[in-house]
Amino acid sequence: MSSRKATALLKNRSNLSHKVRYAVTHPARIAPYLKRTARDGWLRLKHPDHVDYYRAVMASDTARNPEAAVGSKTHDRWLALGTMQFDYLKEHGLAPRHRMLDIGCGNLRAGRLFIDYLDAGHYYGIDISPDILISAKRTLTTYGLQDKLPHLTITQNLTLDFLPDAHFDVVHAHSVFSHSPLEVIEECLTHVGRILAPGGFFDFTFDRTEGAEHQVLREDFYYRTGTLLALAEKHGLRARFMDDWEKRPHGQSKIRVSLPE
Ligand SMILES: C[S@@+](CC[C@H](N)C(=O)[O-])C[C@H]1O[C@@H](n2cnc3c(N)ncnc32)[C@H](O)[C@@H]1O
Repeated sequence: MSSRKATALLKNRSNLSHKVRYAVTHPARIAPYLKRTARDGWLRLKHPDHVDYYRAVMASDTARNPEAAVGSKTHDRWLALGTMQFDYLKEHGLAPRHRMLDIGCGNLRAGRLFIDYLDAGHYYGIDISPDILISAKRTLTTYGLQDKLPHLTITQNLTLDFLPDAHFDVVHAHSVFSHSPLEVIEECLTHVGRILAPGGFFDFTFDRTEGAEHQVLREDFYYRTGTLLALAEKHGLRARFMDDWEKRPHGQSKIRVSLPE
């Protein structure tokens, strides 16, 4: 591991000393950060429930730029981040016959590639944000994927109760738990085993810390690997850290969860 990455893993971004150091070294980012802090403070006041709050964040971000709302500052990065997710799953055996659930599918940054590759009707994307799902439909049209008839559905929680038992070969959540408090992650891990097909798996990324777990503006959450592995095991699932994902140029880490044999 590079020393830069090792230092990043120990950072506590919620510490005042970290914020002051960051402000001194990145003065141009002070004004946007203060604006975001004020907006988020107001949205948290209006929406005490996390999912309602994050939906409002997504509405505000998507109105400005849907690609930036899912975390890509440029269109080239949007394309690259989609390809990175797709290539990884293909290397891990994703096949056209598989049925896939993409939790927090956003505006189909990766979904457009999964939809194109999978058999018609085999991609199921869910998200809490109606605004980003409208943008997802635009992506579908732009890339001419209408014949693939993907399912794109709004959800309020991750109980997955509207989905059938033992149905999905691959469940995927990229850059979703990095924006989720532990109770949202636990809700998903409580229920995901029911919808996994035999031999199926659930891959999710998370913002990893090797120091104290923390959050910033209730938008970004940093967890220790052990916390998430233990949570999956508590719900009867097998879980492992995906070392090969670490080689990709991406700031988050990945865990794979599956049913016990
Ligand atoms: C950073 S974006 C990533 C989108 C997509 N996975 C990708 O990689 O392009 C996070 C997405 O997750 C959605 N999201 C956040 N919390 C969620 C939750 N609890 N359940 C479902 N979707 C959620 C957001 O609305 C947003 O579209």
